[in-house]
Amino acid sequence: MTVNEIRSKYLDFFKARGHTIIPGASLVPENDPTTLFTGSGMQPLLPYLLGKEHPMGARLTDSQKCFRAMDIEEVGDNRHTTFFEMLGNWSLDDYFKREQLPWLWEFLTQEVGLSEERLWITCFEGDGRLGLPKDIESAEIWKSLGVPEERIRFYGPEKNWWSRSGTPEQMPAGEPGGPDSEIFYEFTQAKHNPKFGPECHPNCDCGRFLEIGNSVFMEYIKNSDGSFGKLPKRNIDFGGGLERIAAASIDSPDVFLTDAFMPVIQKIEQLSGKTYHADPRPFRIVADHTRAARELSAAGVLPGNVERGYVVRRLIRRAVRYGDTLGLPSGTLAEIADSPEIAQEEGRFRKTLERGMKELGRFVDKGSLSAKDAFQLFTTYGFPLELILEETGERGIKQVDIDGFKELLKHHQELSRAGSEQKFKGGLADASENTTRLHTAHHLLLKALQMVLGPHVKQRGSNITQERLRIDFSHGEKLTQEQIAKVEKIVNDKIKEDLPVVRTEMRLEDAEALEAEQEFGAKYPERVSVYSVGPLENAFSIEFCGGPHTLRTGKLSAPGVDVPFKIQKEEAVAAGIRRIKAVLIK
Ligand code: ALA
Repeated sequence: MTVNEIRSKYLDFFKARGHTIIPGASLVPENDPTTLFTGSGMQPLLPYLLGKEHPMGARLTDSQKCFRAMDIEEVGDNRHTTFFEMLGNWSLDDYFKREQLPWLWEFLTQEVGLSEERLWITCFEGDGRLGLPKDIESAEIWKSLGVPEERIRFYGPEKNWWSRSGTPEQMPAGEPGGPDSEIFYEFTQAKHNPKFGPECHPNCDCGRFLEIGNSVFMEYIKNSDGSFGKLPKRNIDFGGGLERIAAASIDSPDVFLTDAFMPVIQKIEQLSGKTYHADPRPFRIVADHTRAARELSAAGVLPGNVERGYVVRRLIRRAVRYGDTLGLPSGTLAEIADSPEIAQEEGRFRKTLERGMKELGRFVDKGSLSAKDAFQLFTTYGFPLELILEETGERGIKQVDIDGFKELLKHHQELSRAGSEQKFKGGLADASENTTRLHTAHHLLLKALQMVLGPHVKQRGSNITQERLRIDFSHGEKLTQEQIAKVEKIVNDKIKEDLPVVRTEMRLEDAEALEAEQEFGAKYPERVSVYSVGPLENAFSIEFCGGPHTLRTGKLSAPGVDVPFKIQKEEAVAAGIRRIKAVLIK
């Protein structure tokens, strides 16, 4: 079955069971200060999993594009990819295990047609020290569906507990999580590799088993004293790997043989004259990295030296190097990925490599490479460690301080992560007068979009400079000229009304009761700052926000400018996410 068939069957299946199909969020949660990329389907839904009411109801389903940067080094085996699509269904305090597990079983066996005998189940063993009980109920449900006891295995919190931060111990206070039940497909044709342990089992990494879905029973929250409490509402958070389900549907342990990758693999074969099966690793790396780089570029991330840009740069540069080992002609990666950004970055990388090679020559005489020098080659010339080792080997440099290099790299990554967390708070480039005016216009615009398009419109990202504002928001269709004109008119009218912009500090629950717009994915302290346009009791818009703002909306128009607010561009950035760029005429 193709990925498109599986995706649409899945969404239809859950729609028929009362779920609303919601658009996936952007791969780049710009206003979520906790993370650089959307890495799971639940991430954009965090406020709702914590108890907030979702405007589309208590049963939701979607297919979410995900990117997991930590998997970059793992790409090359038969199942790891950095970019993937996660099928998701959620119950927000609605149904629970008794519905979820039979539905999932029905979907996989009836709709996708997976053979029941190939499916294995894992359940949570419990953790006595933390007072978390064994999940016997799930196991009983699986048994009632016909799964024999020997194909249901129990594992501890390392494997069968899910939260964004990992095991119960790793979770910070306030984080939701819960036990989960995973479903695995067994490739009976594959032999167990004893390198991974004496016995094969669902969580063995030898490749015979492939995890294809995970039902999380999200009913716990970590307390500040380290204990676990129950969430006010209990939820189901299901995530299924689309490409992996597709692999199971064709009984292939190799996800790169699904239609999600096959056309690209074939193209690489044609261009390189090599065959995939002879040595699949470089093919997989090139196919995964170019696909991920294309998706990230489409979400607005361009190659750079820090944060997200750095991740894209690394993906493209790794793809170039592995493409070179395959003998891919220079410049063809962009063609493979159908992404012009890749061509530019490849060109830059080749120039840098040339300069770096000359630089490397300096160390040949010394016969050794210190951690600092290796790190400089890495930061300035983009030489990754593997490449440094390869060249140095060829050039007769015997000693390279690898541990020292790794230490420096770790430090560098921590710094850039900390920097990005700062930067993405609020999405403002600075606090200048123009940026401040555009920030106030941003609040007016969000409200106007909700009035014209509907309450499903939520901010998914924002970026404001002195020149323009940018907002990403959830909406499935291109805006018509008429809608754009209506939105502009509302904003311009509110500027003309010269409404006061008021900051109020209040308790979190009071702000929530006022239905103040929340920053996407953010977690708030007990006391929060809220900005209303118009007095709080009769506000045009209310948002959780730290400012800064103009004192009145009239400040958004320059002297003599009657209609200051103008939308310059409206476009799609990802499935279900639109982007508007707008200005205030000076
Ligand atoms: N949130 C769960 C996961 O990512 C479903 O595996």
